[in-house]
Amino acid sequence: MLRKAVRTLLRGGIVAFPTETVYGLGARVFDAQALDRIFEAKGRPGDNPLIVHIADYTQLERVAARVPQKARLLMKKFWPGPLTLVLRKTREVPARATAGLPTVGVRMPSHPVARRLIRALGEPIAAPSANISGRPSSTTFQDARRELKGKADMILKGGASRIGLESTVLDCTRRPFQILRPGFVTLEDLKKWVSVQAPSFRRLQAGPAASPGLKHKHYRPRYPVIAMPAEYLNAEAGSLMKRGFRIGVLLFRARVLPNSMMIYRKDFKGNMKKYARELYASFLQAERAGVDALVVESVAKSGLGTAVMDRIERAGGK
Ligand code: TXA
Ligand code: MG
Repeated sequence: MLRKAVRTLLRGGIVAFPTETVYGLGARVFDAQALDRIFEAKGRPGDNPLIVHIADYTQLERVAARVPQKARLLMKKFWPGPLTLVLRKTREVPARATAGLPTVGVRMPSHPVARRLIRALGEPIAAPSANISGRPSSTTFQDARRELKGKADMILKGGASRIGLESTVLDCTRRPFQILRPGFVTLEDLKKWVSVQAPSFRRLQAGPAASPGLKHKHYRPRYPVIAMPAEYLNAEAGSLMKRGFRIGVLLFRARVLPNSMMIYRKDFKGNMKKYARELYASFLQAERAGVDALVVESVAKSGLGTAVMDRIERAGGK
């Protein structure tokens, strides 16, 4: 399978593969035409740059120029793993990969299949999440196949992604470093090693070299997602069902009674890692169950809760 995937990439094909965060849809970074195919397959806006995945530090030097010492420290602490660092790019990286930006987002994934694929190819792979643009990301082989059937040339199997949310994106070209997208590596984790500015949605949208991905729609299933704290969740769910809506619920701590109008439910029992890991898969399961709306319990925006709430709010259109 791996050899076939490498041959496919070398021919300019696009291959979906598992990572520890979410499944990615990959192409050779240095093949601008293959990158075009990724944008086309996903229906991705051309101004949203791709993350470049590497397997070793020789590959880092090919794509990133002038890497700050503090960024190297973070690589030592968090790579391989769910942290993407935005760095000055080298000339070899095509503008298509970075949406014309002078910077490149780089990450060294830890998933063994991702690592083996990049190693076998011998060069970096550009890969956005394996979903149609605007939809929830795929975190299982089955979801990647349902989302990208007929669009990817090949999909590599690798079980469910261990983390389930995309990597933290950290801009290392500004001081202090700035979080552009919250993820599994939290503000608190990063602050142990470098000075970091927390993500601010307003500032990111306004800033000149802001993270272009932020202005686009993201993570949205085909039904409305309504976020609610535990204390209002029952009343909201009840009123929707009384009005004849067939709903789903994602519960963190709230308790709700069964109801024939509640056709999908998942209880995370206060387990935040599980909430993060199964959030996207739950969105897609509820979609297949045919819910009219999904009522989702909101959580405190600290630690991993920041990333979970970021995805929930954006799924809800905030
Ligand atoms: O966990 C992940 O990061 C997954 C897996 C496959 O590695 N990939 C992923 O890619 O989430 P994608 O394309 O769905 O999200 C990439 C994000 C976007 O928000 C984009 O704007 C930001 O990274 N990004 C990439 N390069 C950037 C750059 N040079 N400057 C600012 N933001 C950048
Ligand atoms: Mg994505």
